[in-house]
Amino acid sequence: MSTATETGTENSLERLAPEALKTARRLSGTILLNGKLTGASTDKMIDVIHPGNLQSIGQVPQCGATDVNAAVEAADTALTSWRRVPARERGRMLQKAADAIEAEAELVAQVLALDTGNALRTQARPETASSYDLLRMFGGLAGELKGETVPNMSPDVLHYSTRDPIGVIAGIIPWNAPLFLFMAKIAPAITAGNTIVIKSAEQAPICVLFLAEIINRFLPPGVLNVISGYGEECGKPLCEHPTVRKVTFTGSLPVGQAIAAYAAPKLATVTLELGGKNPSIVMPDADLDLAIPGIIDGMRYTRQGQACTAGSRVFVHKDIYDEVVKGVVARLGDIKLGNPLDEATDMGAIISSEQFDRTKKYMDIARNTPGMRVLFGGEEPTDPYLRGGNFYPPTLLDGLNLDNKVCQDEIFGPVATVLPFGSFDEMIEQANDTPFGLSANLWTRDLSRALEYVERIEAGFVQVNQCAAPRSNVSYGGIKMSGLGKEYALDSMLHHFTSSKTVLINRGTPAPGV
Ligand code: NAI
Ligand code: MG
Repeated sequence: MSTATETGTENSLERLAPEALKTARRLSGTILLNGKLTGASTDKMIDVIHPGNLQSIGQVPQCGATDVNAAVEAADTALTSWRRVPARERGRMLQKAADAIEAEAELVAQVLALDTGNALRTQARPETASSYDLLRMFGGLAGELKGETVPNMSPDVLHYSTRDPIGVIAGIIPWNAPLFLFMAKIAPAITAGNTIVIKSAEQAPICVLFLAEIINRFLPPGVLNVISGYGEECGKPLCEHPTVRKVTFTGSLPVGQAIAAYAAPKLATVTLELGGKNPSIVMPDADLDLAIPGIIDGMRYTRQGQACTAGSRVFVHKDIYDEVVKGVVARLGDIKLGNPLDEATDMGAIISSEQFDRTKKYMDIARNTPGMRVLFGGEEPTDPYLRGGNFYPPTLLDGLNLDNKVCQDEIFGPVATVLPFGSFDEMIEQANDTPFGLSANLWTRDLSRALEYVERIEAGFVQVNQCAAPRSNVSYGGIKMSGLGKEYALDSMLHHFTSSKTVLINRGTPAPGV
């Protein structure tokens, strides 16, 4: 690993991202309520910290029940007319919003990098692009909000179903891919004729507000509302609000369980996208030119491992173990850790001191385990600029048993473990030995093994010979404790953001005299 940046003023945000910093300060202190950026009912603020140098880039209101009520009321008022706007007209508005985001993409990406510490070139720009792509896609799918006709109950009875909006939706999003996940909630919800209140994550709220500001220009007031605040104080009353008929959430397992419980008494439905402890598996016959870079991409090192799809348990067949480890370690050395706003940087900073400490805590557990080897990384950098932020290098370990906490818990940091295997059956059993079931990657040239793995692996998002990130039109979600429901494709809009009405119309006899 090398460092992309030196210390000194060349690292300052004022120099690297002046417009983005100005935008963050302009949005500071606001929420999006009923079509307007405005202050909240509270004076309490949450400081928003750039993880690269721990500088404050702005503040957002620490909203509570009063602001929740105002936002839900705005969404409820807007619902009456929004649901009656023809579906394709709604879709066209969102597609215009997608064009507007694309036109401002560089600034959006820079604000995203400021907020999250994700590297501009490898993460923030691609995330921005996939966000407006998702909005454009759902806008274009508006005409697919179709019901069905059912034949032949009786020749006189027309029997059909409609797909209607559910009503006011609550979306609770995390900080790790805030723009894409914001879009994954609002794009299908709004296209389907619902209105929505989003609670942003306290760690990365400003980029969400900026994107919402752009989209709001194309929507009637109140269709999209964005509030900020903490989970218990703001997220909980939002989920529990009697007018909210559906909650869509991405984040941790315990919070997902809490949200399901908030929604249960009023029988509101939930979509939950939770964590993973995903296997990346290399078979002895694998094409290592695909598998070696694949392990690194699959671990999402350039997003500091802060991805639910991170392939953090790397199962490698013992016959090729040394070769694979050597190849991966050699490539990890090329990843440049540095200032997120610097073009040369591959890997930015961990979102918060809380998540930074979490990574270090798991490294302490690993270090206290006899037989553990650090194959790469494992030490905080010494470069003075990097010491001033939440930087941790890509880290690869082995010598840990599967039951070690490092191999069981979702670390959500740049730490992966390699586990050797001899038998396919045993490996599949181990790969499935986790409460989670989100994603899995396997590299092999053997079609038969590949198909057997697809059948036996317990995961909702399964890849062979690649490890792409989820994106538009790829239906994505987990099984077991990784969640409920799928997102990002047409089926997510139809299944999770509409309700259905069954209609029976008896035509009777024609009125007389005509
Ligand atoms: P979290 O699940 O606590 O936070 C996610 C969102 O939920 C935030 O907007 C937060 O304010 C909100 N929230 C928290 N408590 C809530 C409550 N009681 N009611 C309603 N909303 C609530 O995640 P956190 O604390 O940021 O990260 C902890 C761990 O969670 C990570 O280390 C990672 O393992 C996992 N995580 C997984 C994500 C994924 O993409 N699947 C995303 C973020 C975190
Ligand atoms: Mg939390």
